[in-house]
Amino acid sequence: MAKLNWGMIGGGEGSQIGPAHRLGAGLDGEFAFAAGALDHRPEEGKAYGRRLGLDPDRAYGSWQEMLAGEKARDDRVDLVTVATPNATHFEITKAFLEAGFHVLCEKPMTMTVEEGEELVHMASHTGRICAVNYGYSGYSLVRHMRAMVARGDIGKVRVVVAEFAHGHHADATDADNPRVRWRYDPAQAGVSAQFADCGIHALHMASFVTGQEVNKLSADTVSAIEVRTLEDDAMVNFRMDGGAVGRLWTSSIAIGRQHGLGIQVFGETGGLRWTQEQPNQLYYMPLGQRLQVIERGEGNLSPEADRTSRVTVGHAEGMPLAFGNIYADLAEAIRARKEGRTMDPAANLYPRAEDGLRSMAAVFAVAESGKAEGKWVDARPPMFR
Ligand SMILES: NC(=O)c1ccc[n+]([C@@H]2O[C@H](COP(=O)([O-])OP(=O)(O)OC[C@H]3O[C@@H](n4cnc5c(N)ncnc54)[C@H](O)[C@@H]3O)[C@@H](O)[C@H]2O)c1
Repeated sequence: MAKLNWGMIGGGEGSQIGPAHRLGAGLDGEFAFAAGALDHRPEEGKAYGRRLGLDPDRAYGSWQEMLAGEKARDDRVDLVTVATPNATHFEITKAFLEAGFHVLCEKPMTMTVEEGEELVHMASHTGRICAVNYGYSGYSLVRHMRAMVARGDIGKVRVVVAEFAHGHHADATDADNPRVRWRYDPAQAGVSAQFADCGIHALHMASFVTGQEVNKLSADTVSAIEVRTLEDDAMVNFRMDGGAVGRLWTSSIAIGRQHGLGIQVFGETGGLRWTQEQPNQLYYMPLGQRLQVIERGEGNLSPEADRTSRVTVGHAEGMPLAFGNIYADLAEAIRARKEGRTMDPAANLYPRAEDGLRSMAAVFAVAESGKAEGKWVDARPPMFR
């Protein structure tokens, strides 16, 4: 079976997230890395693309050149990943969708709710895939958690607790460092810093695992380092459309915490707990019984977990493999379209433009509520009210 062609915008040499995408996309041999506009500096981007093995005529100097070049080819890329800084996502994703490409966009998908709604409409009317990289939802045991909740293993969900709290911006003496400062500057970051960067991953995880969406929220936001305009710590209470109560803590000043993403779900007949730094174990407590540790790779867990587990039980799988599972979903979605068949339902879990839009509505709701001393506000995008 011929490989699908994959292209990337952003993710240049030294970027944080570029390597994880290249590892993830290459994992199953489904995608061939065929084109890229990898850097905001055209010559550096072309040179790095060639070093990574791109043909010189497909190592582009800008995304506009890549769009024009790929549109003109019979073997144009089947999927484009957008891994540039946040403020560029909307323009690039829109242009590629309009031209008929499938897109995987990094989070946050847009800077405003209106832009998010536009991409949802555009994906719908072009019939193209507009996926959003909530890559942590690709972990095998996160998918198993979702399957366990859906099949009723813990009964009706009462409470979901999500966290994404790290300590990497905790040093007040480093707050003026330009690499840190822009994140807390509304002119560059928008209405929110820590919630928009990390909180939305935790919120997406809460929705993904429970199968419920956020209706309303109340936020307590703080700039613990006082020179910052935007928040570096937030506690968000929320309510979901299936009745679950949500609690979310996100922070960048939690000294001693590393990545700090985790999720707990408590239902009427059981509880589940998973953390991203120990992703190969899922803790399951059925009511009135002993704590069980579910290991990734045990087999026969659920179709969603079995499909996304590759390495033998007892050998750790980590973040690039979780990204790989998003790419595996997308490969299946694209092949199913090409072959005119229904896709494997266990692969139909990649986050979509609707998820990116819901996150953006939550970002604005957190900013509004935080300014109004925690007033409860509607967290749904207008098009879903
Ligand atoms: N899903 C996740 O888990 C996750 C994790 C980290 C970052 N991200 C997101 O990924 C995106 C990139 O983050 P990063 O930390 O890798 O940033 P980075 O600053 O480390 O790298 C950005 C790269 O994009 C390139 N670039 C900038 N503008 C460009 C343009 N117009 N055309 C082509 N290339 C361009 C830069 O040269 C650089 O190589 C951000 O939106 C961030 O929120 C997501």
